[in-house]
Amino acid sequence: MIQKPKGTKDVLPDEIDKWQFVESTAAGVFENYGFSEMRVPTFEYTELFERGVGDTTDVVQKEMYTFNDKGGRSITLRPEGTAGIVRAFIENGLASKPSPLKIRYTMPMFRYENVQKGRYREFNQIGAEIIGTSSYLADVELISMADKYLKEIGIENVILNINSIGCPECRKNYQEAFKKFIGNNFEYYCDTCKSRFEKNPMRILDCKEKKCKELNQGAPVILDYLCEECKTHFENLKSALNELKIKYKVDSSIVRGLDYYTKTVFEFVSTEDGLTVLGGGRYDGLVNEFGGGNVPAVGFAAGEERLISLVPNKFLVKYPLDLFIVTMNDKYNLKAMEIANSLRDFMLVQTNIADRSFNAQMKYANKLGAEYVIVIGEDEIKKNMCKVKNMESGEEVECKLDPDEIENVICCNDEF
Ligand code: HAM
Repeated sequence: MIQKPKGTKDVLPDEIDKWQFVESTAAGVFENYGFSEMRVPTFEYTELFERGVGDTTDVVQKEMYTFNDKGGRSITLRPEGTAGIVRAFIENGLASKPSPLKIRYTMPMFRYENVQKGRYREFNQIGAEIIGTSSYLADVELISMADKYLKEIGIENVILNINSIGCPECRKNYQEAFKKFIGNNFEYYCDTCKSRFEKNPMRILDCKEKKCKELNQGAPVILDYLCEECKTHFENLKSALNELKIKYKVDSSIVRGLDYYTKTVFEFVSTEDGLTVLGGGRYDGLVNEFGGGNVPAVGFAAGEERLISLVPNKFLVKYPLDLFIVTMNDKYNLKAMEIANSLRDFMLVQTNIADRSFNAQMKYANKLGAEYVIVIGEDEIKKNMCKVKNMESGEEVECKLDPDEIENVICCNDEF
């Protein structure tokens, strides 16, 4: 049998409630903050990610699904959403819309990763971007929206870690200090780190190799090298979070895995499994990098699979089957469908569509968890009456074989 590719996932009917809950709650919460949904292509020209995400990142160097299309162009399945959103922002002239622009998205992403718990090759991100302001208030709004969202879907066991990785100015001084720190240990780093030393030394801090992590212990921290503007931005952010009573920890080791970040970076990490469920930060240089001028921005994305693994079952909205209409004979199936169609304006109804006997239909209705059952047979049709049976209590209420009457019995009858 052909199986699904490694690192992908089938979402089965039994699991879909959680996916819909997580997605619809995001839509509801984010829309109430003024975020509008946007969708961008699943694949882009490879150069977009090389320039946007950075050609010395793991994502670009090791994890992209890249191929030449039949026209010989290099195409990449998007490994993340921000680069595509920013490209679309520029290409569609969205800078002319009221600024800042608030965008939300739910989209699949693709990374050729080492598959493990919470790490897939195709995964879904729920993200939000604010494009067009450099104010720390946008960072605050995004973080508080993320905090509210996680609470609304029942994820309480997370901690918020924040850091500032400064602007290109602060980074110059920091990189000098960091290179000095590496000094004679250079030869012990992995080949990838060595290759990043000249071009982008900060990426060495993000290396997942055990020996490189050990060598990085005690490295200087970027927070000590922030310029006045970046320092003020970070101080303002911290005071605002304190004022809004959003708990956080400053974690100077967060550098994030993508090159476009400037100033604020943040991650919500699950205390249950240690995985980052949501991560983001400011990217003031990305729009300019793509030729869209000096437009600062900030955003985040949450991994939907990771959210779903943490949503408590009690937070699920259940969609039980309200009514199953059983037929005694095939000739009544269309009558059942007609009644069901009218009732479907108000409730979830199913009928016999599988050539089944009375007993088999009752069994099926039970398996589906039907709350009520109606049986239509010769008698019911002749008298134009039926019995609405409550499957849990076994009680029956007689009424006309008419959608309005049936609805009235199910929704308003105190006997049930
Ligand atoms: P990221 O940290 O690479 O940031 O990914 C965001 C979230 O996606 C992670 O925190 C994690 O929950 C989830 N995620 C990442 N890789 C995987 C994977 N292989 N399997 C399952 N889940 C995964 C970004 O992608 C940025 N674009 C976020 C952003 C938006 N920054 C500013 N705006």
